[in-house]
Amino acid sequence: MKKPLTCIEDYRPPAWRMQTIALDFDLDVEQSWVSARLHVIQDPAQADVGLRLDGENVELLEIRLDGRVLASDEYRIEGALLFLDAVRGEAVIETRSRIRPADNKAMQGLYLSGGTEQGFLLSQCEAEGFRHITWSIDRPDVLARYTVTLRADRARFPVLLAGGNPDGAGELADGRHWARFVDPQPKPSYLFAIVAGRLAVIEDRHCTAEGRLVSLKIWAPAPLIARCRYALDCLKAAMLWDEQRFGRNYRLDVFHVVATDDFTMGAMENTGLNIFNSKYLLADPLHATDDDYRHVLAVVAHEYFHNWTGNRVTCRDWFQLCLKEGLTVYREQEFVSEQTSRTLRRIEDVRVLWRNQFSEDAGPLAHPVRPSQYSEINNFYTATVYEKGAEIVRMLATVLGRDGFRRGMDLYFDRHDGAAVTVEDFLAALGDANQRELSPWLAWYTQAGTPVLEAQGAFDAQTHCYTLELTQSFAPVATALPRQALPIPVALALFDAFGNRLKIERNGVAGDIDEAVILLDRPRMSLTFRHLDHAPIVSLLRGYSAPVRIAQRGDWADLVVLATHEDDGFNRWQAADGLIRHLFMAELQGDARGAPAFGAWMTGLRRAFDEADLDPATLAEMLTLADEITLGESLAEIDPPAIHAARSRLECSIAQALQTELLACYEQLAAASMAGAEPVAQGQRRLRNACLGLLCRADPQYHALAHRHFDDAVCLSDKLAALTCLVHGQALAAQNALDTFAADYSTAATVMDRWFSVQATLPTANALERVRALTRHAAFRWDNPNKVYALLLAFALRNPVGFHREDGAGYEFIADSIRRIDRITPQVAARLTTAFAAWRRYPPTLRERMHAQLMRLQEAAAMSADVTDILARSLAHADEDGSLRP
Ligand code: TRP
Ligand code: ZN
Repeated sequence: MKKPLTCIEDYRPPAWRMQTIALDFDLDVEQSWVSARLHVIQDPAQADVGLRLDGENVELLEIRLDGRVLASDEYRIEGALLFLDAVRGEAVIETRSRIRPADNKAMQGLYLSGGTEQGFLLSQCEAEGFRHITWSIDRPDVLARYTVTLRADRARFPVLLAGGNPDGAGELADGRHWARFVDPQPKPSYLFAIVAGRLAVIEDRHCTAEGRLVSLKIWAPAPLIARCRYALDCLKAAMLWDEQRFGRNYRLDVFHVVATDDFTMGAMENTGLNIFNSKYLLADPLHATDDDYRHVLAVVAHEYFHNWTGNRVTCRDWFQLCLKEGLTVYREQEFVSEQTSRTLRRIEDVRVLWRNQFSEDAGPLAHPVRPSQYSEINNFYTATVYEKGAEIVRMLATVLGRDGFRRGMDLYFDRHDGAAVTVEDFLAALGDANQRELSPWLAWYTQAGTPVLEAQGAFDAQTHCYTLELTQSFAPVATALPRQALPIPVALALFDAFGNRLKIERNGVAGDIDEAVILLDRPRMSLTFRHLDHAPIVSLLRGYSAPVRIAQRGDWADLVVLATHEDDGFNRWQAADGLIRHLFMAELQGDARGAPAFGAWMTGLRRAFDEADLDPATLAEMLTLADEITLGESLAEIDPPAIHAARSRLECSIAQALQTELLACYEQLAAASMAGAEPVAQGQRRLRNACLGLLCRADPQYHALAHRHFDDAVCLSDKLAALTCLVHGQALAAQNALDTFAADYSTAATVMDRWFSVQATLPTANALERVRALTRHAAFRWDNPNKVYALLLAFALRNPVGFHREDGAGYEFIADSIRRIDRITPQVAARLTTAFAAWRRYPPTLRERMHAQLMRLQEAAAMSADVTDILARSLAHADEDGSLRP
């Protein structure tokens, strides 16, 4: 199936709005009945446009217009639209329909989580799921006040929840009961949500700065509820932070959060009723790694922050998705930075950006942060919209300063509370509050592709001046339209050869400073720094001030100085990463160990182990090599076995060079207390596990250490780190450890996901056989997105050696899996299909085999719109003018 393209320039304001919507549900697992009462009002300026309602898989039983039942010739249903051509002006439309939750495997609309007997009902409406629940106007710029009444059997569905404030509940005949909710704030349909079933709860309260007492409740199936306490604490911290940092208060009386194992995405910000994939909600030391803890903190905050950035101020249309997602990711990143470690969070976020967004931006699925066309909107919840979207907001915050950005946000909320707006509205608010013209920034939202930043320096010993030429350019991408120069904030500092910071004195710029943020707002710019005795070392893009590629990371000797002395923690790591990439290239072409940079950097790292005030987590990051995807992404041609081999040899050389320090560090940290979830313990654990990983690389004799580590582990981070060492190192004890782990965690779904992933990412050509066998494991389910992601997506996206094996069997297996999953959850199948997108970048044999599978899928019958869209874009050729033709 192919959906037609929706284009941004075709946007028209809604001809009909809904003032109120009242929904009545009679809920049951196999079928549910939905009565909807819509009060619709026509835009007088569009008096010629008839009323149409959206609906999919909603069986219409009866429809009334202003109380009168309509005969079948008074309306018509064509595909997913119901036409009421005769209606004019203002009307009350009442429908009665039937939907089938248990059959809804696509997880859009109302569906069942868990089995028929024990499971509960829940809804997912973003982006266009509401039309799977009832006939209505399903677009984000139609905001209505919702009243929702739920009725169900009390024993089977003791808990009934909907967004908004509770507005009564009671008993009915035959063991049934009801509950009503009213959401006082008009909202778009994608934020509607209900939940019904047997769920346990934990509660707390938060008193907002405005003095409202809010009841906080987290709901989960009973066996999981004990693991929800951490999330509740995160929620309270997020509420407080949004009040203090952005002056934003929550304004309903209740805030519900529900955990489910059956969810296609991370979580959903429905007003007053957030719904979470349980992997982003559950956390206790035995069932969550330190990374899981951080993700829970981030996602709980993310969904809460949507209350203002997304819900109260929402998107005019789906092209503006970044308006809520990029901005909310930025807010979430700031929150987590302030709760944990700014340096660490930045390193992690940038690693994710480089791995996921840069590669997306360089392939056929590249699209602007605000796309201008889409066929299936569900395929645009991407790294570009989320992560690059957040980077744009970060740059704006850098340029406006903390206070200026806050002023801009205040104005944005003041102007647009209760409205559905655009990226232009956002930029206008930030600009107006600061008397600045921000329209040049729109180009960041409308141009795809990663900008390349080049810096060329020249020192003049006579004049003591250093001239730095900054240039921006673009690598060609599939959607190459005429390019406009972007405003790029370049934060930089100067160092001497001993790593001392130099004062910055610029020509024509008064005063001397330590750090400068230069706004490169044209193709090239020349800066002159004065009063220097020698050529300085330039530390570029401190804190990663812009999401650009650096063309040339500088001389390796300069990088060693920066990786040793830079006092911006992020840029210290960035220099270390630059060294690793330099060494990786040397290894790819020969032998890194022989390169002068190798010895110099090993000396640098050895000293880092002795540095008293170096944060252990940062050291761990400096020891962790860029992954194969990120390394491959920066090469013209991606040859997975060659990349894997070179990276492995480099890692092994580094591990052998540092063996003494790694072992000493490992043992010294073992003596410290390791159990807690507090940042210090987490940092130590991270370093210790990084040491263990490298030691196992250096010499298989350390598998014994990993084995002990596995047995002694008191938290999942340690257990999983040891398991990974054993399995990926193909240690004798690996299978034993896997079996023990599976026996210990057989009932913990999210932990079993990790068990599947460790095996799916085994970097050998025969990983496929193992993955295939694991699809028959009792804990694997084709209809559970988390399981598919943990096993199949991990294999396809994070196991280059296994997936890209020479004979193409990995491709064939994943293509077969896509066909199978597409009949269940198209959204999940579409994500799996993206594994083929970069096919043109691989060596000829692999390229042809990937292409063959894409063609096979394209020719297969009855594929979903979701997969069809990814296939079409992956196979399209870019024309000169940038438009895509099939
Ligand atoms: N808005 C959600 C977020 O916070 C994303 C999301 C959740 C979603 N469920 C979805 C998007 C289903 C598409 C389909 O990021
Ligand atoms: Zn979001």
